[in-house]
Amino acid sequence: MKRDFDLIVYGATGYTGHLIAEYLAASSRGGDSLSWAIAGRSIDKLEKVSTEIGAPDDLPLVKADAADPASLHAMCDRAAVIITTVGPYQLHGSELVAACAATGTAYVDLCGEPVWMRRMIDAHHEEAKRTGARIVFSCGFDSIPFDLGVLTLQEKAREKFGRPARRVKARLRKMKGGMSGGTAASAGATLAAAARDPALIRLLSDPFALTPGFTGPSQPSNLIPGYDPAMNVLLVPFPMAPINTKNVHRTNFLLGHPYGRDFVYDEMMVAPGIWEIAGVATETFATVASLFRGGGLKPGGGPTREQRERGFYDILFLGELPDGGRVEAVVTGDLDPGYGSTSKMIAESALCLVRDLKGEGGVWTPGALMGPALRKRLEERAGLTFSAR
Ligand SMILES: NC(=O)c1ccc[n+]([C@@H]2O[C@H](COP(=O)([O-])OP(=O)(O)OC[C@H]3O[C@@H](n4cnc5c(N)ncnc54)[C@H](OP(=O)(O)O)[C@@H]3O)[C@@H](O)[C@H]2O)c1
Repeated sequence: MKRDFDLIVYGATGYTGHLIAEYLAASSRGGDSLSWAIAGRSIDKLEKVSTEIGAPDDLPLVKADAADPASLHAMCDRAAVIITTVGPYQLHGSELVAACAATGTAYVDLCGEPVWMRRMIDAHHEEAKRTGARIVFSCGFDSIPFDLGVLTLQEKAREKFGRPARRVKARLRKMKGGMSGGTAASAGATLAAAARDPALIRLLSDPFALTPGFTGPSQPSNLIPGYDPAMNVLLVPFPMAPINTKNVHRTNFLLGHPYGRDFVYDEMMVAPGIWEIAGVATETFATVASLFRGGGLKPGGGPTREQRERGFYDILFLGELPDGGRVEAVVTGDLDPGYGSTSKMIAESALCLVRDLKGEGGVWTPGALMGPALRKRLEERAGLTFSAR
């Protein structure tokens, strides 16, 4: 069915949606001929966004309210791909996933809420396969750099040794950035849901929560800081690990276990030099500390442009094969991970679905559906680097 637009940015009036719309407006001015629109629940607010991002006067504005399923269906009927930043997804996202699955519309989001993601997989994966709807969660810093980092490492392992690394460790070496009101609200919604229903805590702490019917070997819990003699650094827990690890295992699951059915994966952050721990003054620590101070942020708020532009990240992946073979990969990104880099990653994910690949319907991860095609785009256009040896 012919749709009016290649893509719609739904939630363009929010902090992250505004950045995504700004990025697409700049791409369009750079000659990237794209038919697109912005959507939200208030046309007045959307008009203001359109002016602020320097979009053409005729950029279409689409009214859709998360509380009005008919408006979501009407929006889905008009677009090949919906980018949504209307979160927390567990509060505002279910009807949109249902509408995309029903109408065969592709969908990308920034979800880091695994209990809701599992509910959506159970409810819509089969229907999306039937209708051809390509639904892709977690197209931001959670979890693209980690998902594609492991994919890159495993490609190198196959090239060097003819088989995958059974054990992979992701180590966030550097990160600088901030936090938005919407992300704080999403983290708060997850904690509130777990407090209401303690059964959810089991799902939250299960590395295989997103691989229905499959459970692999025991995985490191990584809740305790520890010295790593191989890297000669102190490692501390990484707050995003619970979502990223689940997505990495789902990628392996969806692709038929190319990393092995006995694959073991964990993520930790490198602490400052062992003698500097008392100071905890490095930028990585400051970024993570801001995650826990996020409660004061209002929806719509987030890091300043200057803060975003000063941001960056660097992740090392270490792969080990049972016979002693070793392989390494590194992923880096410019701008702050959560918003500057994230807005480019989700926009390029949507463009990858519009332009680069067809793929089957279903509830996907970025790595399983878009893998190398997305990695190429991110390297060429979004300031990420991927290397392996
Ligand atoms: N995983 C990652 O890497 C990552 C990174 C960044 C953000 N995120 C996630 O992205 C989401 C957005 O974050 P943010 O900071 O951009 O949030 P935000 O600034 O609060 O924006 C939320 C958006 O949702 C819209 N909205 C709320 N209720 C609605 C409804 N009933 N109907 C239609 N629209 C509605 C708001 O519209 P109004 O303007 O009309 O209120 C606004 O456009 C959060 O879930 C966050 O966790 C994830």
